[in-house]
Amino acid sequence: MGVSTVTLSIVHDLRGNLVPIQSQRDIPFDIRRIYMIYDVPTGAERGGHAHKELTQLILAAAGSFSVRLDDGTRRHTYHLNSPTEGLLLPRLVWREMFAFSPDAVCLVLASELYSAEDYIRDYGEFQQLVKHHNSIS
Ligand code: TYD
Repeated sequence: MGVSTVTLSIVHDLRGNLVPIQSQRDIPFDIRRIYMIYDVPTGAERGGHAHKELTQLILAAAGSFSVRLDDGTRRHTYHLNSPTEGLLLPRLVWREMFAFSPDAVCLVLASELYSAEDYIRDYGEFQQLVKHHNSIS
């Protein structure tokens, strides 16, 4: 489905761990936006959309949560629980985040500034777009 996992390197010394994330070095895009999701109530779900152009790296900076992905054909669920294990989400992947631990901090690095127009929030519309995309590529 074009989704890949990224293992970030740790710089470790007696004072603890440091994990750098550099554009075009550790991840294959330029970071234009960073956001965090945290204090997610037990049982709450986030996401429920895809993006037309946006690429993102998503990881659990603290705690853990699950990510259900769907490219219109296949589905896969990942459990993120490490600040060094990221999921690289390309465009046109439907995502749902759930099962957040109370201490979870979801860190997202994004290739574009925020744009409401880039969102596909209707699953039927997502399926149509993916079908069209696959038939011309
Ligand atoms: P949304 O992307 O729907 O959150 P999630 O996918 O985690 O469920 O965004 C929730 C709200 O936050 C929505 O009103 C748009 C706003 N928002 C911003 O203002 N800037 C951002 O960078 C993001 C990601 C969301």
